[in-house]
Amino acid sequence: MVERKEHRRRLLLALFFFFLGFRRIKCRSDTSSEDADAMFALARALSGLPSSWKPGSDPCSWDGVSCSAGRVTGINLASRGVSGSLPPSIGSLSALTTLNLPRNRLSGPLPLLPNLSSLQSVSFEDNAFESLPDSFFAGLIDLQSITLDNLPLAPWSLPRDLASSAGLVELSAANCSLSGSIPDFLGSLPSLRVLRLAYNHLSGTLPPSLAGSGLQQLLLNSQQSSSLLSGRIDVIGAMPQLIVFWIQSNAFTGPIPDVSNLTALESFNARDNALTGVVPASFAATLTLKNVSLSKNMLQGAFPQFASKSVSVDIDKGNQFCSPAPGPCDPRVTMLLDIAAGFGYPLLLAKSWKGNQPCGANWLGVTCDAQGNVIVLNFANQHLGGEISPAFSNLTSLRQLFLSSNDLVGSIPASLTQLPQLQLLDVTNNSLSGKVPTFRTSVTLKLEDNPKLGDDSGSLFSSTSSPAALIVGLIVAFVVLLACAAALLFHCRKKNQSKKFERIASDSTSFKIGLDGLSKGSGGISSGSITSSDQYSTEAQSMHISIQSLRRATDNFSDANILGRGGFGLVYKGDHNGTTIAVKRNGYDSTGNKGHEEFKAEIEVLRKVKHKNLVALVGFCDDDREKLLVYEYMAGGTLTEHLFQWQSSGEPPLNWNQRLVIALDVARAIEYLHSLAQESYIHRDLKPSNILLDKDLRAKVSDFGLAKLAADDQKSMQTRLAGTFGYLAPEYATTGRVSTKVDVYAFGVILMELITGRKVLDESQPPEDIHLVALFRRRFSHEKDKILTEMMDPTLELNEEAKKNWAEVADLAWHSTAREPHQRPDMSHAVNRLAPLVNHWQPTNYVDEDDDDEPSMNLTKRMEQWQYNDTTSTSTFDSSLK
Ligand SMILES: *[C@@H]1O[C@H](CO)[C@@H](O)[C@H](O)[C@H]1NC(C)=O
Ligand SMILES: *[C@@H]1O[C@H](CO)[C@@H](O)[C@H](O)[C@H]1NC(C)=O
Ligand SMILES: *[C@@H]1O[C@H](CO)[C@@H](O)[C@H](O)[C@H]1NC(C)=O
Ligand SMILES: *[C@@H]1O[C@H](CO)[C@@H](O)[C@H](O)[C@H]1NC(C)=O
Ligand SMILES: *[C@@H]1O[C@H](CO)[C@@H](O)[C@H](O)[C@H]1NC(C)=O
Ligand SMILES: *[C@@H]1O[C@H](CO)[C@@H](O)[C@H](O)[C@H]1NC(C)=O
Repeated sequence: MVERKEHRRRLLLALFFFFLGFRRIKCRSDTSSEDADAMFALARALSGLPSSWKPGSDPCSWDGVSCSAGRVTGINLASRGVSGSLPPSIGSLSALTTLNLPRNRLSGPLPLLPNLSSLQSVSFEDNAFESLPDSFFAGLIDLQSITLDNLPLAPWSLPRDLASSAGLVELSAANCSLSGSIPDFLGSLPSLRVLRLAYNHLSGTLPPSLAGSGLQQLLLNSQQSSSLLSGRIDVIGAMPQLIVFWIQSNAFTGPIPDVSNLTALESFNARDNALTGVVPASFAATLTLKNVSLSKNMLQGAFPQFASKSVSVDIDKGNQFCSPAPGPCDPRVTMLLDIAAGFGYPLLLAKSWKGNQPCGANWLGVTCDAQGNVIVLNFANQHLGGEISPAFSNLTSLRQLFLSSNDLVGSIPASLTQLPQLQLLDVTNNSLSGKVPTFRTSVTLKLEDNPKLGDDSGSLFSSTSSPAALIVGLIVAFVVLLACAAALLFHCRKKNQSKKFERIASDSTSFKIGLDGLSKGSGGISSGSITSSDQYSTEAQSMHISIQSLRRATDNFSDANILGRGGFGLVYKGDHNGTTIAVKRNGYDSTGNKGHEEFKAEIEVLRKVKHKNLVALVGFCDDDREKLLVYEYMAGGTLTEHLFQWQSSGEPPLNWNQRLVIALDVARAIEYLHSLAQESYIHRDLKPSNILLDKDLRAKVSDFGLAKLAADDQKSMQTRLAGTFGYLAPEYATTGRVSTKVDVYAFGVILMELITGRKVLDESQPPEDIHLVALFRRRFSHEKDKILTEMMDPTLELNEEAKKNWAEVADLAWHSTAREPHQRPDMSHAVNRLAPLVNHWQPTNYVDEDDDDEPSMNLTKRMEQWQYNDTTSTSTFDSSLK
C-alpha cells in the first residue's frame, strides 16, 4: 500500500520534471528515501537478520527498527546472531538516536558516524568488531551512553573527541584493548556517572579531575598492561556519589583516603594492589558498604572492624596488619605508623614493617635498645616524600633521627624540641622550609642543603662566644625584628587593598565543554610551526625556571598563595626575584605524552605572541613530575569579578569609561592574534573570566589553552568543539567550523555584558530571557528605541554624549553577534569603532590623586598615550599613569 502510493508520487514528479525539461527522474533529495537506501544497504551487508528485513519493503516496518516522521530513529537488534560488518551508509541515518546491536557476531571495523549528531545511545558490546577509527567519536555531540565491552579491537586509546560529548552519562569499554592513560577530560564530563574500563591495557594514574565529579561507578580492575594503573587513590575522597569502586589487580599505592563524604559507597574492591597505611576509621564506619575486598595489599595498623552488619569482607590475606584480628596495636607500632603517615605511608616501609614487634624484627630504619625502646630512626636516602610528622615527638626514647637526602617538604615541627633524649637531628639535603625551632644546645643539628630553610634564628644564639658578640647579635636581631614587623604591616595593608580582586575566580555559571590540544592539529589546522621534537626551542629553553625556585616563590605552593582554581588545576601567586608572578600548576597530565605535547605547544604559542593586551608568559618549569607555567601577575583580577561580583567585593562597579577602555584593550589583543604576519591564532575561549585586569584596570587576554593556529590560506576549518557555553558562535556549536569570526562573536557577547551588566546566561531570569544574546537581539530588532532604557546597566550614569557611545557599542555588539559569520565584522573594524569613543571620553568622573605630579599633561594628552602603538612598552605606559 505504502509502496504503491510512493510509486504514484514518483511517477507524478517524474512527469513534472520531464515537462520542465529535466533529465533526472528520481528525486534524490527526499530524506526518508535516503534513510531507506541506507537501511537497504545495511540489510544487504548483514546476515542472520529477522525475516522482516527485506530490501524493497518499508524499513520502518522492520523488526527492531523505530521511525518518527518517516526518519529512522532507532535500530535495536540485541542477541540475534547477526553477522557481517556495518556498511558506511549507516552514517547517513542522521535522525538516528539509538543504535543497539549488542551480543551478535558483527565484525569488521566500526563505521565513522560524523553526521549522527542526534545519536544518544550506542551499544556494541559482545561482538567481533576489529577496530575503532580514531575519529569515531567526532560529531557524536549528543551521545549519552555507549558500550563497547568485550570487543576484540585493535589497540586504541580514548580520543579527545569524546570530550565534546558533554552529555555522556555512561561509558562502558571493558575488555576492548584500550591502552594509554585515563584521560583527564573524563573527570570533567559533567553528566558522567558510569565509567567501566576494566580488563584493558591502561596505565598511568587516576586523573585529578575526578575530584568533584559525579561518578557513581568507577571500574578499572584487572588491567593487562605491564605497568598497570598506579599512583594514589586520594581523589576518591572527593567523589561523594561513588557507589562502586573496583580497582583490583592493579598497582595502586598509598593509603585509602578519608571517605567520610562518600555517603553511598557500596562496593569497594582494591584486592591485589600495593595499598599501604592504616585503614581510615571513616572507611570502616561506612554503613552503606556491602562488599569490601582488600586482600593482597600492604595495609598496616589495626585489623579493621566494619560497622556495617551486612558487609562481606575479604581482607585477611596478604596484608601487614599488626594482628590478624581487630584490636589495638603495640603503642610503638602506632607511633611509627603515625610517623610513616607524614611520609605518605611509603611502600618501602610498609614492606618491611610487619607484625606488632618493631624491635628485633628488622624493621627498616628502626634501632632499639635492650629494653625495647626505639632509640635511632635512620631513614636517610630512602626517597621519602611528604613531611616530618609532629608524631615523632611521641617517641620519647628517640636519640638520633636521620632524614637526610630525601625529598621532604614543609617545616621542622616545633614538637621535636620536646624529645627529651634527642642528641642528633640530620635533615640535610631535603626541600624543607620555614623557621627552625629552637632545640636544646646539646642537640646537634644538621640542616645544610635545604635552600628554603631559614636558620638565622638558630645560628645566632647557639654559637655565642663573647658578650660583645651577644650584644651585636641582639641588636641585629632587634633590627631584623623591626624590619620584619614593618614588612608584615606593609604586607597586611597591601593585602587589604588588593584582597578584593586577588582571586582568579572560576566562572561558576559558565561551563567548559571541551579541551582541545594545540598539538593535535588535524585537517586544516597547521601545526607545522609548533615544535614536536622532544626539545624546546632555544628561546623557550631560556625561559625555564627550576621547580625549587617556584617552590621558593610560592612558599612551597602554600594554600595561602592560591589565586584561583579551575578545571586546569590551581594558580598560585608567587614572588620570583622580586617580581610578582602567577604560577599555573597541574594544568597538564604529567603522565601522558599528549599532555606533554600540549604543554610544549602552549609555551611555543605564548612565546610567539607578545602584545601589551595579552598576558605574558614569564617562564615555565618542566620537571619530571610537574609541569608549570609562569605568567605575569595581574593585580586587578578578572573582568568577571569587576562586572558581576563587585557587590560582594565592596568595590564600585566599573564606570563607562573603564568599560570602553577594557573593550578596546580586548579588541586590540584579538585583532593582533588574528592578524599576525605568518600565522594567526584563534583564541576560541574568549570570556570575562579569561580577561585579566592590572591595577589600573587595563585589560589583558589570557588562557591560550584552546588557541588554534589558523593556516593563512584557510579562512575556516573544522575542529573539535571547545569553548564555553554562551560565548560559542552558533556555526561553531553546530558544525565545529571555526574561523576568526568565532572570536568576534564571543567579543560581541562580552560587549553586551559590558553595556548591560548582565551575565550571558542568567538563570535568575524568566526562561525566554535567560540568554542575553537572544534577549538583546530581540529587543534590538523590535524595540530599538527602548533598548537603552531597558538594557543599560542600571549602575551606569551616562550623560548625553556617553549615551550616544552606549548606543554605538550596542550596535557593534549586535553586528558582532550576527548569526552568519560573514555578517560579523572583522576585529579591526571593532577596534576602529571603539577607539574614537575612548578618545572622546568626557572626563566627568575621572579621579586621580596624583594629578598634581604632571600638571602639564592634560587628560587628552594622557588619553593619547593610552592609545596603543606597538612601540610603547607597558612599563612606560604604567608610569605615565602614576
Ligand atoms: C556527512 O554529511 C556530509 C554533508 O552532508 C556528507 O558529505 C558526508 O558524506 C556525510 N558522511 C557520512 C559518513 O555519511
Ligand atoms: C574479553 O573479550 C573476549 C572477546 O573479545 C572474550 O573472549 C573474553 O572472554 C573476554 N574476557 C573477559 C574477562 O570478559
Ligand atoms: C567533605 O566535604 C566537606 C564539604 O564539602 C569538605 O569541607 C571536607 O573537606 C570534605 N572532606 C574530605 C575528607 O574531603
Ligand atoms: C557483593 O556481595 C554480594 C552479596 O553480598 C554478592 O552477590 C556479589 O557478587 C558481591 N560482589 C562482589 C563484587 O564481590
Ligand atoms: C601522641 O600520642 C597520643 C596518644 O597516642 C595522641 O593522642 C597524640 O595525637 C600523639 N601526638 C602526635 C603529635 O601525634
Ligand atoms: C641529595 O639527595 C639525593 C636524593 O634525594 C641524592 O641522590 C644525592 O646524592 C644527595 N646529595 C648529597 C650531596 O648527598
